Amino acid sequence: MTEASRKTRVAILISGSGTNMEALLEDMTDPAHPGEPALVLSNRDDAGGLAKAEARGVPAAVVPHQGRPRAAFEAALAAELARARAEIICLAGFMRILTPGFVQRRAGRILNIHPSLLPLFPGLDTHAQALAAGVAIHGCTVHEVTPQLDAGPILGQAALPVLPEDTPETLAARLLPLEHRLYPQVLRARLSGRSDRIALLS
Ligand code: GAR
Repeated sequence: MTEASRKTRVAILISGSGTNMEALLEDMTDPAHPGEPALVLSNRDDAGGLAKAEARGVPAAVVPHQGRPRAAFEAALAAELARARAEIICLAGFMRILTPGFVQRRAGRILNIHPSLLPLFPGLDTHAQALAAGVAIHGCTVHEVTPQLDAGPILGQAALPVLPEDTPETLAARLLPLEHRLYPQVLRARLSGRSDRIALLS
């Protein structure tokens, strides 16, 4: 493979079921994709996504956060990422906050998917936040990670209507397939050097 067609090595960080991870891995099975999976990392050894990654032949590792200082956790993460020669990091349901130092050393090379239309509803319980606010439209955002939580430049968003009977659970269930469409499109665009923001409507 020539240098011009060399694929970017993508690490995916998860904490749970890893359905967004699967969407990214599935998209990278396309030979024309500009990225290739380098590693899946989880901070939890019970993350369902680990087995899904292994079933696809993607190396998966656990870096536990429990029982050690944040600096040691991040040093272990960094060592795994370096070993896998990861060039870009996709947070996909990774439920740990990374320190400003870790993020700044990888400025512009960490993406995250967040289940709200940022800047609305950063943090946790986004579907309940959306229902409590009475918004008519909800969605998800893929953004660049910066030291300030859920506040980095927006790379793409997907939106859906909030229905009168919606609960946090039904909203989450209807949003997840949109997340699975949005994140792969944003990663492809990013790795192809495109800077247009992606907008999807349900
Ligand atoms: C997704 O809904 C993702 O947007 C959210 O966690 C879920 C992970 O599902 N991420 C966050 O809340 C990050 N703050 P998955 O493990 O099936 O991809």
